[in-house]
Amino acid sequence: MPEEQPMVQFKDVEKVYQGGNVAVEHINLEIHKGEFVCLIGTSGSGKTTTMRMINRMLEPSDGQILFNGKDIHKIDAVKLRRQIGYVIQNIGLMPHMTIYENITIVPKLLKWPEEKRRKKAKEMVDLVELPEDYLDRYPSELSGGQQQRIGVIRALAANQDLILMDEPYGALDPITREALQELIKNLQEKLGKTVVFVTHDMDEALKLATQIVVMDHGHIIQNATPTELLTHPANKFVENLVGQDRLVQARADVTTVEQIMLKNPAAITPGKSLAEAISLMRKRRVDTLLVTDDENHLKGFIDLESLETRYQSATSVGDITKSSIFYVNKNALLRDTADRILKRGFKYVPVVDNDQKLVGIVTRASLVDAVYDTIWGENEDYQASDSAKESATPTDQEPATDSAAADDREAPKEV
Ligand SMILES: Nc1ncnc2c1ncn2[C@@H]1O[C@H](COP(=O)(O)OP(=O)(O)O)[C@@H](O)[C@H]1O
Ligand SMILES: [Mg+2]
Repeated sequence: MPEEQPMVQFKDVEKVYQGGNVAVEHINLEIHKGEFVCLIGTSGSGKTTTMRMINRMLEPSDGQILFNGKDIHKIDAVKLRRQIGYVIQNIGLMPHMTIYENITIVPKLLKWPEEKRRKKAKEMVDLVELPEDYLDRYPSELSGGQQQRIGVIRALAANQDLILMDEPYGALDPITREALQELIKNLQEKLGKTVVFVTHDMDEALKLATQIVVMDHGHIIQNATPTELLTHPANKFVENLVGQDRLVQARADVTTVEQIMLKNPAAITPGKSLAEAISLMRKRRVDTLLVTDDENHLKGFIDLESLETRYQSATSVGDITKSSIFYVNKNALLRDTADRILKRGFKYVPVVDNDQKLVGIVTRASLVDAVYDTIWGENEDYQASDSAKESATPTDQEPATDSAAADDREAPKEV
């Protein structure tokens, strides 16, 4: 894979404030063009310090920071800052300036000609679907929500490739906040901007980021995509930050049946005698057996009941095999499958691969243990919840329990 040069690269960066306070150390980080990077961590973990070193508002005590491959120490600080936007919490619009003047504060500082500024301002209000004649109004003539949207486009109006945002929405009410998160994310993608965004809110980070950098006590604890963070949190600290609910949820969304199934289902071939079937049931302490052919294709099941009633007339397992059985593919997502299994009331479900070969079994008991309580515990439209819990004995890990696999509430598949 060709290595694309990072837009920003931290190389073993350290910042010690006067008085010896080590704010950050051993910071190694790459930020690539087009990424939305969230720095997340508790207060005092070094997020702001890290961010401010990017545009030389703060100088590192040690290490090196590169901007497009160049040591920022060798770039004139003013020139550097012209290429990097900076937005801090809650800076409202200037009340005595028109919307146009507000949007073009930075372009004006950058000495863009009037015509170019006008054009840009029009382009930006179009982006947020506000009429162009709003440009000549004052902030007080706009609604609160409209003012907020102007604030967002102001941050993007100067054609800067990199935008630094330090908890910009930290003080807003949840509804306004959500609207602005959506807006900044849309515009960032549409305009191909690179954003470094400081937050202490995991929901915000998960919503916005393509890359999440978790910080604690001046160190980077984990640097990962939102999915990686949810599915493979680096340690307990990250787990706690992410929260148990989100972790379980994420796990069910990405976990396949194969990952939680029991791999050794009690199975027998059709040619075996009924005596052998009974012996196997006793040995495995189950009351149903799955029936598979010599190549392990799932053919059906037998249960204790039909063994007893047909013991006189039948000779082989094949004679009493029931071929109606509900099964799932090993690649099915746990979330969908668990819901189906629990709702249909099956005690267990065989798992097959793409060739219809038996590869495992998912039991109701193990399912309930694995996901039920935590994921669907609060879900009111899941009616079977209580009965599902009661009927599953935690110690019962055997593949089959006291009823047949197929339940007549749902039409099982023929195998
Ligand atoms: N100007 C400063 N002088 C001394 N210590 C500071 C200064 N600014 C921040 N710190 C300290 O550096 C650490 C990191 O702070 P900061 O980067 O602001 O964290 P965050 O943004 O994650 O809350 C904290 O311990 C903080 O007290
Ligand atoms: Mg801060």
